[in-house]
Amino acid sequence: MNTLNLLGAAAALTLLAGCTAAPEAPVATAAPAQAKQAFVDNLLHRMTLDEKIGQLRLISIGGGMTRERLADEIAAGRIGGIFNSVTPADNRPLQDAAVSRSRLHIPLFFAYDVIHGHRTVFPIGLGLASSWDMQAIARSGRVSAIEASADGLDMVFAPMVDITRDPRWGRTSEGFGEDPHLVSEIARTLVDALQGESTSAADSVMASVKHFALYGAVEGGRDYNVVDMSPMRMYQDYLPPYRAAVEAGAGGVMVALNSINGVPASANRWLLQDLLRDDWGFDGVAISDHGAISELIKHGVARDGREAARLAIEAGIDMSMADALYLQELPGLVASGDVAEATIDAAVRRVLGLKYDLGLFADPYLRIGKAADDPADINAESRLHRQAAREVARTSLVLLENRNRTLPLDRHATIALVGPLADAPIDMMGSWSAAGVAGQSVTLREGLQQAMDGKGTLLHARGANITDDAHMVDYLNFLNWDRPEVKQDPRPAEVMIAEAVAAAKRADVIVAAVGESRGMSHESSSRTRLTIPDSQRKLLEALKKTGKPLVLVLMNGRPLALTWAQQNADAMLETWFSGTEGGHAIADVLFGDYNPSGKLPISFPRSVGQIPTYYNHLRVGRPFVEGKPGNYTSQYFEEPNGPLYPFGYGLSYTDFSLSPVRLSQRTLPRDGTLEASVTLRNTGTRAGATVVQLYIRDESASVIRPVKELKDFRKVHLEPGASTVVRFEIDRNDLNFFDAQLRRVAEPGEFSVQIGLDSEAVRHASFKLL
Ligand code: NOJ
Repeated sequence: MNTLNLLGAAAALTLLAGCTAAPEAPVATAAPAQAKQAFVDNLLHRMTLDEKIGQLRLISIGGGMTRERLADEIAAGRIGGIFNSVTPADNRPLQDAAVSRSRLHIPLFFAYDVIHGHRTVFPIGLGLASSWDMQAIARSGRVSAIEASADGLDMVFAPMVDITRDPRWGRTSEGFGEDPHLVSEIARTLVDALQGESTSAADSVMASVKHFALYGAVEGGRDYNVVDMSPMRMYQDYLPPYRAAVEAGAGGVMVALNSINGVPASANRWLLQDLLRDDWGFDGVAISDHGAISELIKHGVARDGREAARLAIEAGIDMSMADALYLQELPGLVASGDVAEATIDAAVRRVLGLKYDLGLFADPYLRIGKAADDPADINAESRLHRQAAREVARTSLVLLENRNRTLPLDRHATIALVGPLADAPIDMMGSWSAAGVAGQSVTLREGLQQAMDGKGTLLHARGANITDDAHMVDYLNFLNWDRPEVKQDPRPAEVMIAEAVAAAKRADVIVAAVGESRGMSHESSSRTRLTIPDSQRKLLEALKKTGKPLVLVLMNGRPLALTWAQQNADAMLETWFSGTEGGHAIADVLFGDYNPSGKLPISFPRSVGQIPTYYNHLRVGRPFVEGKPGNYTSQYFEEPNGPLYPFGYGLSYTDFSLSPVRLSQRTLPRDGTLEASVTLRNTGTRAGATVVQLYIRDESASVIRPVKELKDFRKVHLEPGASTVVRFEIDRNDLNFFDAQLRRVAEPGEFSVQIGLDSEAVRHASFKLL
């Protein structure tokens, strides 16, 4: 965790000195960590068991209690933190109840799901990851922290770093894709950006990395399903991003809803104690996910609430989220001796430590501020960071196809804009859009209109609904039944298509915004099909028949199976859900004001049957070899092997060439380094950026190693005709892996270095580790 300053400790003591029975002041010269410990110990000794248990409860607004009732519970010392309350004016009375009315005046902390922006919404996780641009990602994190803290929030339930290889899982949208190295880099970057210079700064928030662990590997991509995984795969591929976040100092860890090899994460001592705390040295707070402690009964590992509470606290869940079981059961469990009070104390120490690190003992209103300074309009334009949102969103767009240089478009042309996502403010925001307001997002229609500025003509026709499947619409609207998100145009499909075709015939080019509504890629939105829904596919088929150039602007929160689109579209831009400034950012790319530079952070399969389709798969005894007969090799015989679009893939409006790989030497001494370099040249006519990717393959080892693994990358911008040498330093750490005994080793032998602009089109060289 970030180090604290003594000033914070001193101020904290001043605050408590005003209370009855203030703790003894630690010596003024104590080091920060000792000062914190002394402070926490003093406070803990003054707490009753009930007050301690109260600190272990994280309660949601809207969870069945009125705000008045909540304030009374807080005053009674029965709540330690609040989530889903997101304005200073709302949080202040709750904090008042804690610091003025509770016996020990212990401040609350306020948390929220700030996943890809707060008031200003940035692209969803997959979009941010597509930028491969750590500065852009850090910018999104910093803005999130500034906006969230200005709303009185202290902690965010982010980053979400679950590796996923199965796009059927709806939460694929929230994460950063399939690769352990890329996701770990992003995890580190976001923790640093959210927590800032110090977690006790007024514009920093504490990061709570989630979902620990392996939630992205739920069987069949079905949400909340079980995870069954070999330890080697876990250590090698799925655990590194959580560890990276912990090493970067994340103060919180949210525990996953799934089970792992037969034991729910929320009752998993190995996970929360042996791995997280003992091996990784995590000393922050472990928080259960929503209702997860009661769910131990449904998992079938606890007979009742009492056993569930015991399992969770003993496994290492410090705070229970939206769950009454700690309150109801822990007092009796301690009284009967079934749970040691020392176990409760350890959890409480961590919660108090978190509040201390957040600077809340020094100033409980550090982020809430004074009432006089409350914004008159919480959604005021002046509170947004539109420029940052637009610039980050531009980096997240991935050009998948561009036949005959259909893009960029001419803004003097007549453009037929069609599709259910062309003018869909709420969908621009994507899932978990925090406090973002749909009405403040720029839709594609608005973005194009403004960019054309009257120079050309923009025709618009909806053309289709997201889906015509009434059951699906009901499902997607279930959570918001009073404010349906998926609004159906009541006209018959043929009428809508005819209108779109008529517009297309009058136009020079068609731009079709198609894909998923944001709720289709969300928690609890697992899919069995990955195609563009039929209603939209029929529209696309009719548009194709007009013979006009067809540009697809895809909006979706997971890889889709795009075989038809790939064969029929003239150009295709993957825009994910691009946030508040999405419409402007997409227009910037469509008109060539920004040259696309995004690369896929996850493979796109040809069909659902190919899943999982990750690039870094293990080798097999009968591999399929491109160009050779497939019989008795590992492949599906009905369609080509491999993904439709590989990991790391993405085009530009310019062209790049890569020289052969040069190695500084052919052998790598065990403690030495080796340089691999390539010359990257912009051979086209526009300035642009691309990502040079370094992959390594271990040719022979004591256990099977993947066909290749990403080890490093550089995003490079070049003027037309310019070139640069991109250098990567390789040492033993890049060759390490977990062996059969889960030891991290680098075994001597042959390695291949592969450098390319995606994971498939690579240049090779090889060296030996001595
Ligand atoms: C449940 C989700 O799984 C988790 O990601 C989220 O942070 C919590 N609810 C709180 O909203």
